[in-house]
Amino acid sequence: MTRPRSMTSSRTRLARQRSRLPVGGRARGVALVTGAARGIGRAAVRRLSAEGFNVVAVDRGADDPRLPYSMGTMAELQSLGNERVVAIPADTCDAEALAGAVEIAERRWGGLDVMVAAAGVIAGGVPAWELDAEQERAVLEVNLYGVLTAARVGIPALLRRPEPRHGRFIAVASTAATRGLPMLAAYCASKAGVTGLIRALAVELGGTGVTANAVSPGSTRTSILDETARLYELASAEAFAAQQPHGRLLDPEEIAGLIAWLAGPESAGATGGDYPFDGGLAL
Ligand SMILES: NC(=O)c1ccc[n+]([C@@H]2O[C@H](COP(=O)([O-])OP(=O)(O)OC[C@H]3O[C@@H](n4cnc5c(N)ncnc54)[C@H](O)[C@@H]3O)[C@@H](O)[C@H]2O)c1
Repeated sequence: MTRPRSMTSSRTRLARQRSRLPVGGRARGVALVTGAARGIGRAAVRRLSAEGFNVVAVDRGADDPRLPYSMGTMAELQSLGNERVVAIPADTCDAEALAGAVEIAERRWGGLDVMVAAAGVIAGGVPAWELDAEQERAVLEVNLYGVLTAARVGIPALLRRPEPRHGRFIAVASTAATRGLPMLAAYCASKAGVTGLIRALAVELGGTGVTANAVSPGSTRTSILDETARLYELASAEAFAAQQPHGRLLDPEEIAGLIAWLAGPESAGATGGDYPFDGGLAL
């Protein structure tokens, strides 16, 4: 005969489940997105929360003194906040600060299911050997070390979920991971590093229920593309549309759609991939 579960333990279980539920309905899971203040990261926060995820939105929310263009602002980051989204300022290269953001996800919503590493920067406009060393370091640090840090901090949290898990580590790489883009060598190196990292992570995570994938956007209407146009001395980012076989720029919301698919249950069999969403730019 099975022993009836005690009232106390079922009440405790119910209380635990309730503490994971957001105000306004049952959550599909909990996600953390870096680079969330604007662009692709922001679109990913919005899409994931619209699909029922609770989201910790992380961004440095301040300029990077090593780079000549502006980063997302605190006001942009904080404007994301609502009952499903909490905005936390943190640098993706700062493991302690990022761990603080993961802890907020775990304390507030009971755990972490999806880590999206979208924070990124660009520098270039000159041949590799002439790039200012500080700018080169910024690109490598934010784009590669920042994703390594997101993995170092985020993956243990994904693995803290009990089995069977549905953890997702998703990094935003770029067409620059596979194409030799002139005057953007450090950027290309950093993004190729990300896709290499994703392949190794996918193998290390085999059998855990946690997958690792990269998304590689082509030219997408965001501040990074405006800065790239400035580096190439083009009148505007719209000039990049002609380089994409599709004939137009992409919108951040389109990339967010792929990120949301990778975050969801239908992608469970996909790991170690680098998914182009680039209007054919990589062809
Ligand atoms: N826009 C494109 O055409 C394009 C193409 C391929 C890949 N990407 C990649 O997409 C990702 C998102 O970029 P975007 O296009 O939305 O540009 P964006 O400049 O609009 O957004 C980048 C965000 O990252 C934040 N950020 C920068 N450094 C940070 C750090 N150290 N810690 C935390 N946050 C930081 C910025 O404040 C900003 O809000 C980047 O990894 C970028 O390399 C963009």
